[in-house]
Amino acid sequence: MHVTSVRGIVLAGGSGTRLAPMTTAVGKQLLPVYDKPMIYYPLSTLMAGGIREILIISTPEDLPRFERLLGDGRRWGCRFEYVEQARPEGLAQAFVLGEDFIAGERVALVLGVNIFFGTQLQERLRAAAAASLATVFAYHVADPERYGVIEFDALGRPSGIVEKPTEPNSNFAVPGLYFFPGDVAAVARAVRPSDRGEYEITDVISHYLNAGELAVETLDRGTAWLDTGTFESLMQAAQFVQVVEQRQGLKVGCPEETAWREGFIDDAALEALAGPLRKSGYGEYLLGLLQDAGR
Ligand code: G1P
Repeated sequence: MHVTSVRGIVLAGGSGTRLAPMTTAVGKQLLPVYDKPMIYYPLSTLMAGGIREILIISTPEDLPRFERLLGDGRRWGCRFEYVEQARPEGLAQAFVLGEDFIAGERVALVLGVNIFFGTQLQERLRAAAAASLATVFAYHVADPERYGVIEFDALGRPSGIVEKPTEPNSNFAVPGLYFFPGDVAAVARAVRPSDRGEYEITDVISHYLNAGELAVETLDRGTAWLDTGTFESLMQAAQFVQVVEQRQGLKVGCPEETAWREGFIDDAALEALAGPLRKSGYGEYLLGLLQDAGR
C-alpha cells in the first residue's frame, strides 16, 4: 500500500453555465461521463497517487448531493470532508476554504471536470506527491487559449504562466491537477481578483515560479487529459471512456477498483461494495476483479 500524508482537494463547484440547461438542477460534476458520475474520475486520480484524505468543495446546493454519493469515504478506505463554496470566485479560493483541512501539509488540487488516463500517470502522481516543490504539469493541446498556458524563455525554461492568453506563447496548457507545499493557503490569500473577477490559480502558480520553487512536469502524448466542461468535450470524454472500457474490459476512473488495487480496502470490502451495484453491471465488474485475481 502506498499512502501519503498529502491532502487532496476536488473542486467541484462552478456555475455550470456552459452546460445549461443540463446543469440547471444539478452540478456538472454529478453528470455522467459514460458509466459513472464525473467526480469519480478526478477522485480516482487522487487515490491512485496514494491520497486518502480528500476534501470536496462544491456549491451549497450540490454539497449534500456529493455527500449522499460519496459519504465519509470509509467504505473506500478514505476520509472525505466537505466544504461549501458560496460563490464560484476562482480556483485559488479552494486553498483558503480548505485551510483547516490542509493543516500545513502538502496538498493536491484536482478540478472536478478533469479526466486523466495513461500508463505513466500513477508514477507521475506519486513522484509529485513525494516532491517538495510546487508541481504543475504541462500538456500539449491544440487550443491553448482556453487554458492557463506556460510561457518558455529562449532556453526553453518556463518563464511565465498566463491565464487564457489571446496569443499563446506555447501549446502547453496547465491541466487542472496541481501539487503545492503546505504554505499555499497563505499564498492564495494574497491573490487579488483578476479582470474576470476571479482568484486565479495561475497567480498562485506564478508566485512559486517567481520564487524559483516551481517544477513543471511535462505529461507526454501517451497520457490523455480530457476536460468535460462543454457539450462537445463531455461527449468526447464519454466516448473515450466507452472505447477504452469496452476494448479492455477494464474501467477508467473506478474509485472502488483503485481503493482495492491500492490496498485501501480488502477483498471482502470490495465484494460488499459490489452487491448493490450488480444490476447495472458495475458490481459484476468489481466481482470480476476478484475472480481475475484468483480470489
Ligand atoms: C482553469 C484554470 C486554467 C487551467 C484549466 C484546466 O480554467 O484557470 O489555468 O488550465 O482550469 O482545466 P477554467 O476551466 O476555470 O476556465
